[in-house]
Amino acid sequence: MRILLFSGKGGVGKTSLAAATGLQLSRLGYRTLVMSVDPAHSLADAFDLSGDLFHGKTGDPYPINDKLAIHEVNIQKEIKRHWGQISAYVISVLRTTGISDVEAEELAILPGMEELSAMMWVNTFRREQRYDVIVLDCAPTAESMRFVSMPTTLEWYMRHIFPVQRGVLKAVRPIANRVSPIELPPDSYFANVKDLFAKLDGIDELLEDPRLTSVRLVTNPERMVLRETQRAFVYFSLHGLTVDGIIVNRVLPAEVSDVWFAEWRSSQARVLEEIEAYFAPVPVKRVALFTHEVLGSERLEELARALYHQNEDPAAVTRTEAPFAFVKSNGNYAVRVQLPFAVKGEVGLFKKGDELVVEIGTLRRHIGLPTSMANLSPSHAKLENRVLTVEMKEN
Ligand SMILES: Nc1ncnc2c1ncn2[C@@H]1O[C@H](COP(=O)(O)OP(=O)(O)OP(=O)(O)O)[C@@H](O)[C@H]1O
Ligand SMILES: [Mg+2]
Repeated sequence: MRILLFSGKGGVGKTSLAAATGLQLSRLGYRTLVMSVDPAHSLADAFDLSGDLFHGKTGDPYPINDKLAIHEVNIQKEIKRHWGQISAYVISVLRTTGISDVEAEELAILPGMEELSAMMWVNTFRREQRYDVIVLDCAPTAESMRFVSMPTTLEWYMRHIFPVQRGVLKAVRPIANRVSPIELPPDSYFANVKDLFAKLDGIDELLEDPRLTSVRLVTNPERMVLRETQRAFVYFSLHGLTVDGIIVNRVLPAEVSDVWFAEWRSSQARVLEEIEAYFAPVPVKRVALFTHEVLGSERLEELARALYHQNEDPAAVTRTEAPFAFVKSNGNYAVRVQLPFAVKGEVGLFKKGDELVVEIGTLRRHIGLPTSMANLSPSHAKLENRVLTVEMKEN
């Protein structure tokens, strides 16, 4: 199975490109599912499906053609399916504050529930081997980050907090429930958490395996959008996910010669150059701005043709190594940079803002640093087996 995760800033074209990719994959014969992980779903809208037809049935995959289905995770159904005890407890706590039942139910949809539900689906489909490719249409960058960092956070919670909390609660519950206005969580709550955790088992290895999961970052040729794309690139790498493609959407086509767009054209050209340089060797694709909105299967097919060659396989594995990784060993931080092309010459290293700039011969890489390393400076570097390791120390 393959998982292709489409992420990027709000409104750049993630849903349209994920849907177009689904069409291309199904045309090549893959059993494909495009799943929306964005609480503000617009996948069905992209296919121009009439609201009633689709939304009456949400919560399960909906067929588009023989090979392609789409799926918008419906949180109400998910709560019934998976989150019963947890949400019942949260609702009971909220009720004690005097708010209405409807409000309590609304508030009991906790951040992350959608993402976790989507992950459980991915795990289920993997077990059932129901699809060859799952394309994930993610919410704008910040929420996608929550999606990919969730397994690590949960693992930590389950290991360090969960057993303690459970044990302590068992001991104090009989007294606490008599004196505290808020009832403490019942055992069924913990059983539910444990059960959910079991359903997520293995998802982190799945996401971190570049032969299974690839991230495609969607951007526009605008500086502000690019900044967010660079940050996303760093954070996905930080979480061990492999970005194997950048898609620059809404590039002004050459035919547009109106003077009104002259400045747009030159600024887009500059940003495009910057994009190529920053993400190399990750391939960058360009998609032109269409003369119209991309709505319905026909226009999505048109978008697919702009994005892929006739027989191009979007599920092909092209990168098996994360371009860079941030590591901590023996208390020291280091950045590891894959240098697949043999490079000779002096290694130059310097910091520029919160970026680490690596120069080897004529090659120059800018690497955005995560917050934990932003105050450190390069102290030492070595090149071994095409991997450059840069140690980072405090000044
Ligand atoms: N290349 C293009 N040319 C013209 N219109 C486009 C192009 N790509 C996307 N659009 C249109 O731009 C709008 C936003 O696209 P889309 O919904 O795919 O973005 P998104 O990144 O998923 O947004 P959100 O962050 O809200 O989920 C849609 O109306 C879509 O039809
Ligand atoms: Mg979208």
